[in-house]
This record gives sequence, C-alpha cells and structure tokens, in this order.
Amino acid sequence: MVAVKYTLDDFVQEMDDLLANQPDNERIFDRGSDYLSRLIANPDAIPERFRLPMGSGSRSNHGSWLLHHNPDSGLLVTAVVWGPGDHAAPHDHRTWGMIGVMDNALTETRFRRVDDHDRDDWAQLELDRSSVVKPGEISLLIPEVDEIHQMDNFTDRPTVEIHVYGNDLRGLERVRYDLETGAIKQMMTEKYDNC
Ligand SMILES: [Fe+2]
Repeated sequence: MVAVKYTLDDFVQEMDDLLANQPDNERIFDRGSDYLSRLIANPDAIPERFRLPMGSGSRSNHGSWLLHHNPDSGLLVTAVVWGPGDHAAPHDHRTWGMIGVMDNALTETRFRRVDDHDRDDWAQLELDRSSVVKPGEISLLIPEVDEIHQMDNFTDRPTVEIHVYGNDLRGLERVRYDLETGAIKQMMTEKYDNC
C-alpha cells in the first residue's frame, strides 16, 4: 500500500479549519506547526519552479513565491528560496508567523529590542540567539515578543522554506533595522517579496 502524501491543499484546508475557530496564537502555533511539519516533510508538495531562486531581476539569487492567500482569514503561504550568500537584514513582521525549512539550511539570528520604543527612527537591538535551521525544523514569529530576525544562507546551494503568516504582508507597514547605526527604516512590500 502506498502512503498518501500530505499536499499543499491538505495544509491549506487544515489551516483554514483551524483559523475558522479564531484561535489564539498559542493554539495556532500548537496545531499549525504540526501541519507545517507534515508539509515540509514532502518537498514534492511544492512545484519545483517554486523551490528555485527567481534567476533574474534585482534579487535573482532570491525567490519569493505566493502559494496561497485567503483574504478572509488573512492566511498567507509562500515559498521563500535563499540562494548561496543570500541575506536579509533584521526586520519585523507585525503578524504571527511560522517558518519551516524544506531543503538545505540557513542561519536565523534573532534580536530583541531593548530601548523604550520612544523613537520611531531608532532602536537598540540586542542579539538574542543564532541558530542553524535545517529541514524539518520550524521557527515561530511572535508579534512584539520574538519576531525580529536576520537570515543568511551560508551554504553553496539554495535553501527552501515555507513561510506561513496570519496576514498579507503586502502593504503592511513594517520596519528594517540597521544593526550598526540603530536606524529604523520603514518598509512595505508591494508584491509577494516577503520574508
Ligand atoms: Fe522575516
């Protein structure tokens, strides 16, 4: 007997069912990370063209592919591909998120903001932790608690992740942090170039 593999449709259906009950973040992470674990265990669930960097344009070494968006619940599912040496400076998300590694590895560095938030153009960040995330591993983004991260692909081949968010990041006012100067830069993505 052939085991039936978990598909993107299965994942979306289970997430939609979960979110329909308006759960708190703890429950979303508890149940959702189970579903995401099953999805990232099956790379074939995602068409190969969404597991590759863009190959052209200003970020040809990066890939950000929309897999699903439900405007009612806000659920957004993307495949994010980090080519060798690809990097994202520290930034926030302003919504809950789950990131699962599907192929290869990546360094994710987390920071915490330790100033008193009285300026919107400057922040003091402290290093919280840095970890190498590998296939099957999931990291959680908890708004305003633990969500500022930097990503680096230190390897010589692309790393594939599935990103799941509670809101469409497109048009969301977010910020990017300059670690050297402390400057905060507003950022808003207009297309699905999210991470
Ligand atoms: Fe991110």
